[in-house]
Amino acid sequence: MSKQLDESEIQRLAAYDIAHVVHPQFHRADHDGAVIYESGSGAVLRDVRGNEYIDGLSSLWNVAVGHGRRELADAAAEQMAQLAFSNGYTGYANLPSIRLTERLLGIVYPNMSGVFYANSGSEANDFAIKAARYFWYTSGQPAKTKIISRGEAYHGSTMAATAITGMAPFHKGFGPEPPDFIQVPTCYPYRCQWCAAKPGCTLECADAIERAIVEAGADTVAAVIAEPVHGAGGVIPPDPGYWPRLRQICDRHDVLLIADEVITGFGRTGRWFALEHWDVQPDILTIAKAVTSAYVPLSAFIASERVHRAILEAPADAKFMIGCTNSAHPTACAVALRNLQILEDEGLVERARVMGDRLNAGLARLRESPHVGDVRGLGLMAAVEVVQDVATRAPFPPSAGIGPKLARAMRDRGVVTRVKGESILFAPPLVVTEEQADRMVDVTGDAIDAVTKGQA
Ligand SMILES: Cc1ncc(COP(=O)(O)O)c(C=O)c1O
Repeated sequence: MSKQLDESEIQRLAAYDIAHVVHPQFHRADHDGAVIYESGSGAVLRDVRGNEYIDGLSSLWNVAVGHGRRELADAAAEQMAQLAFSNGYTGYANLPSIRLTERLLGIVYPNMSGVFYANSGSEANDFAIKAARYFWYTSGQPAKTKIISRGEAYHGSTMAATAITGMAPFHKGFGPEPPDFIQVPTCYPYRCQWCAAKPGCTLECADAIERAIVEAGADTVAAVIAEPVHGAGGVIPPDPGYWPRLRQICDRHDVLLIADEVITGFGRTGRWFALEHWDVQPDILTIAKAVTSAYVPLSAFIASERVHRAILEAPADAKFMIGCTNSAHPTACAVALRNLQILEDEGLVERARVMGDRLNAGLARLRESPHVGDVRGLGLMAAVEVVQDVATRAPFPPSAGIGPKLARAMRDRGVVTRVKGESILFAPPLVVTEEQADRMVDVTGDAIDAVTKGQA
């Protein structure tokens, strides 16, 4: 039980929360009985009643170095005591942001050169789109404005980030949307419309992007944006040939390639950045979440030398007029620097690979269940897709509510995570222990069993 709160105060606060706090992706009925967290340590979260849970998704894919890191609290406190904030607009700068930029450019793709800081992944993607359009504008091709994104993508909730997000529920009720955003089907090997029945990927999913560029007219397309591995859309790793093909397609049609590494950045897949797996470099990279392990908000887009040069060499009548007050906030940058130091000192990128192999191997054993259709993952990202019929891959009817029941059954057994449809998603902190990873596997098997037998 909480040190400060008795049961009646917990209940009063819970009632106030549901009545007055509008939560992300809010629906009143879904919020009933919400867990109110109070503390955490490593990969474990504790709620106000003293219940403990393994943090199966690093909260929202972001608490990479785990909860309760005194070093990060100290880094924030030291910076706050030194300088609260200062104007970072042109003509002014602060020390932590310069040092962080130097550090980031040492770990991202070798072609990267310029960093613009914001606060959320959504903003980073919005600004990346502006940077892509601005690049073509200043290159004398102002008609290149269209942005191509993929089904199942999640890129955020601001206006442009919604427009490039590929899941229908995020669009409902918020129209009309801005023009010039085009969606194509994604790579989803288990349910691929082109090759699910074939022995291997035919890369027609990548070719669909080329067709979309040609149909739209390459001289009107600014960029393709994609997550290296889909996150919220169901943890879907692509075929190893996908990203190299995408890079070739973008080069062939002179279209920029934006990699949204808001989830996959900073070691999540067992490499510092996920496109390293396939030896591909993007033109623009977006980052957020694990850059600070979420101790404070920070995001950025990082421009390749080619794109950055357009900003550096802009004429006086076409300045790069984007901004947000908290861009390069000194506290966020100081925490990010310390967080990167922890990732490096503790070898957490390599640890993500090792623990990811263990988690994915454990989850793969669940394929013996009559309702586990697919198990997929890369590094410390994984998903288990539950189906009604393994032979036909038919899902349960939505009316059965299997997805929410799975999430609830996992939570009741001490693992918190999220589901996409009937896929259970995993991305624990990179410090997750062997025992915790194994426990997550056991709980998942148990929860699937109970839910599909109608016992939970
Ligand atoms: C891949 C990806 N891009 C962008 C975003 C948006 O980030 P934020 O919620 O910080 O706006 C998310 C959030 O989950 C994400 O997973």
